[in-house]
Amino acid sequence: MSSKSKYEVVTVSIDELNQGMTILAYTGFSDRYVALDKKVLAFLHHNFSGAKALVIRNKKKVVVSVEEICVGDSLLQLFSFPTSKKRLTEFNPKLISALRSKGVLAFKVKKAVILPEDYSKDLRDAIDQVNLLMKIPSRKQERLELGVIQSNILVEKVESCARQRVEGSEIIENMMDNARRGKINATDIEAYVENVVRSSSAEAMSAIVNLKASDQTYSHCIDVGILFQMIYFRFIENSRQKSAFTTKNQALLGAFLHDFGKSQIPKDLLDSTVRFESGSQEMEMMRAHPVLGAELLRGMDMPDSVVNMSLCHHVKMDESLKNSYPANIPYEKIGFESKLLAIGDIYQALVGKRNYKRSWTPPQAIRYLYALAGIEYDERLWGVFLSMMGEYPVGSLVVLNDDSMGFVMSVPNEGEDLTRPQIAIVRNAFGEDLENHQLIDLHEERDVFIKGDLDAMDVFSNQALKQFSELRVVA
Ligand SMILES: [Fe+2]
Ligand SMILES: [Fe+2]
Repeated sequence: MSSKSKYEVVTVSIDELNQGMTILAYTGFSDRYVALDKKVLAFLHHNFSGAKALVIRNKKKVVVSVEEICVGDSLLQLFSFPTSKKRLTEFNPKLISALRSKGVLAFKVKKAVILPEDYSKDLRDAIDQVNLLMKIPSRKQERLELGVIQSNILVEKVESCARQRVEGSEIIENMMDNARRGKINATDIEAYVENVVRSSSAEAMSAIVNLKASDQTYSHCIDVGILFQMIYFRFIENSRQKSAFTTKNQALLGAFLHDFGKSQIPKDLLDSTVRFESGSQEMEMMRAHPVLGAELLRGMDMPDSVVNMSLCHHVKMDESLKNSYPANIPYEKIGFESKLLAIGDIYQALVGKRNYKRSWTPPQAIRYLYALAGIEYDERLWGVFLSMMGEYPVGSLVVLNDDSMGFVMSVPNEGEDLTRPQIAIVRNAFGEDLENHQLIDLHEERDVFIKGDLDAMDVFSNQALKQFSELRVVA
């Protein structure tokens, strides 16, 4: 009987760690990591630089880079290891014994769950053989041909969707500028929502989120709304979960306006190129935007479901986290719509370009979010987000084990390995750019695998979206 694999995320002790598990985070530590002294701090800085850490500082939990951990902090978790530190995430007896001696005791890991397939590989191969003799396309061929058609449809839609994104971003900017002058009017954004729901392709729009730089306010709102639209609508359809919204338009409007409260914050603060210090006056002003937005939306007679998207999108599952606000809203009281929006909000903030930081690649952002599931947000909703985005979201630029390079074109189907999507090859192993872009289905081609991921904007600068929209995908 053949099998297919799916992954689950579990916490294991150091004794349970074994081959086939990928470490997402180090989560259990001995007492020496409480109120860190200089010696342990030096060990962390030396071995884990480039990763992130969850620490307790001044009685609050806060996520910092490892380089920012200070004497006196208590370490709770190490995660989001850079690619250069891959050796820290792969099982290896030497690593395990070194970690044991240093008092690292538990880990959050990703492990494969083997699911039996409905019929055997031998039988499928036999059917493919018979089909070949009768000149009927095999299942593998059919799957690839369908992939090619779907990829080319996606590529075709990307250009018009990119224009639609710019239009949306201008509408949000105008609406916020008007609100700043006391003129509040939702006519344009409502008409835009109607257009997006009726005409747009959610997949093409979400590919743009991964391929195009965004500003931190206006196109951010559109990108978050687009991600929300793609994931939420499909989730509602598949799960038959009762929606807090009465219409699709209302749901998308709530997502597009989740940061509307930023219209009450001075523009120079919004456009600032510096990162504000935690606790500074500027940071506190920025942190008022969920409440300010909720007040504005309530004043516009928006339903509670829309108001709550603004009010609750920065509340974390662990409310003692420093980046959880506003205070006094229990996470369990928040609707799953706002919780799902919050995951897309963090993802877009990581992937979108910011004035004060480099953007992350989509797979890097997914790896970061993986480790925070169960701390910042609900693990079940993270599973929903992950299953629809994949570990390599559509539009990610990846390098294969033969050194060829390509764009991810689709997310694996349910139950398939999320690390094995379909890839359109744009550059061959010799570094030559190709005119026709062969589609490789990693679900079928088991000898091929993704070796690493690249920032499409580093490779193609501001032409990444153009490269994608000019793909000519072939079998
Ligand atoms: Fe926000
Ligand atoms: Fe946001």
